[in-house]
Amino acid sequence: MIRYSRVIGTGGYLPEEIRTNEEISKTVDTSDSWIYERTGIKSRRIAGPNESAASMAEIAARQAIEAADCDPETIDLIIVATGTPDHVYPSTGCLLQQRLGIKNAAAFDVQAACSGSIFALNIADQYIKSGAAKKVLIVGTEVCSRIVDWTDRGTCILFGDGAGAILLGASEQAGVLSTHIHSDGEFKDLLYCPNPQAATDTNKSELGFISMRGNEVFKVAVNTLGRIVDETLEANKMNKSDIDWLVPHQANIRIIMATAKKLKMSMNQVVVTLENQGNTSSASVLLAFNEAIRDGRIKRGQVVLLEAFGAGFTWGSALIKY
Ligand code: UT7
Repeated sequence: MIRYSRVIGTGGYLPEEIRTNEEISKTVDTSDSWIYERTGIKSRRIAGPNESAASMAEIAARQAIEAADCDPETIDLIIVATGTPDHVYPSTGCLLQQRLGIKNAAAFDVQAACSGSIFALNIADQYIKSGAAKKVLIVGTEVCSRIVDWTDRGTCILFGDGAGAILLGASEQAGVLSTHIHSDGEFKDLLYCPNPQAATDTNKSELGFISMRGNEVFKVAVNTLGRIVDETLEANKMNKSDIDWLVPHQANIRIIMATAKKLKMSMNQVVVTLENQGNTSSASVLLAFNEAIRDGRIKRGQVVLLEAFGAGFTWGSALIKY
C-alpha cells in the first residue's frame, strides 16, 4: 500500500493595509507604470503594527484546519517557513503551536527564503510517507515590509506581507506526487538580508534590510525554474500537457510568464496573485494555491505544479494531485 500525503485543507491571510505603487512613488524615484510593466505589481499588503509572522500564521492555519474539518490535536508536526520570525527563538512554529493550543505536535521553522514553503512541503511529505507523522501543518508567513529598505527602489516595490497554510494528511489516495529542492550558496551575495546582531565585526555596520542585485537574480531565476520544471516532469514520467495548473512563486510576472511558456501553458492555467500582493516570499505559493482552491479554479483530481526560487539561492517544486 502506497502512503501519500494529501492536501486536506488550505488557508490564507492578508493584512488590511494596502500600499499602492502611487504611494511608493511619493517616497522613492519610481512610477506606477515602471513597477507594473517590469513586475506586474500594482499594490501590496502591509502588516499592522500589532501583527507579526506568528499572528498572521495563526489566522491562515486556523482556516486550513477548519477547511480540513480536523481536530487540531491530531496534528503531529508544525513546520513554519519564514524569513521574518517574531523572535530568533523560540521558533515561529512554537509560537504558532501555543496560539493554536496544540499540545502533541513537534514544531520548528524552515529558513529557505522565498522557497521556504516548498522546502517545508518536502520535509512534511517525507514525514508522512515514512509513517513518522499523519498530519502536518505547513505555514509560510512573512512581514517582508519590516526587512525592506523603503528608500531602495530596487527592492521596496517588490515585497508584501501575508501568510498561507496547507494541512497535509496521510492517505492511500494520490496527493503529493513528488517534491524537489535545491540550494546553491555560491549565490549568497546576490540576494541577502543581514542579521547585524549576530554579525562579525566586519559586517556589523550593515543594517538588517534586503539587498538584491535584481537583474542578476532575475536571469538565474528564469533558467533555474525552467530546469526544475523538466526535473519534476521527468521524475513523474509526465508530459507538459499533464499539468492542469501552475502555481508559481510570485516574484515577477515576467519570470512567471517565462515558466508558463516553457510549459506551453496558457496564462489561464497559471495562478497569479502578485498584482495586488507583491512578493510575499515564503507565503506566496501557499497564498496563491489557497486562493485558487477557494475560488474553485483548482479542483479535486487536478495536477498542480508549485514552484519557487529565492535567496541562497534556493529553489524547489512540488507536484500535487489535488
Ligand atoms: O523572490 C526572490 C527572487 N527575486 C526575484 O526573482 C526578483 C528578480 N528581479 C526582478 O524582478 C527585476 O530584476 C527587478 C524588478 C527588481 C528590476 O527589473 P529589471 O528589468 O531587472 O531592471 P534593472 O535592475 O535592470 O534596472 C533597469 C533600470 C536601471 O536604470 P538604468 O541603469 O538603466 O538607468 C535601474 O536603475 O531601471 C532602474 N530602476 C528603476 N526605475 C524606476 C530600478 N528600479 C527602478 C524602479 N523605478 N523601482
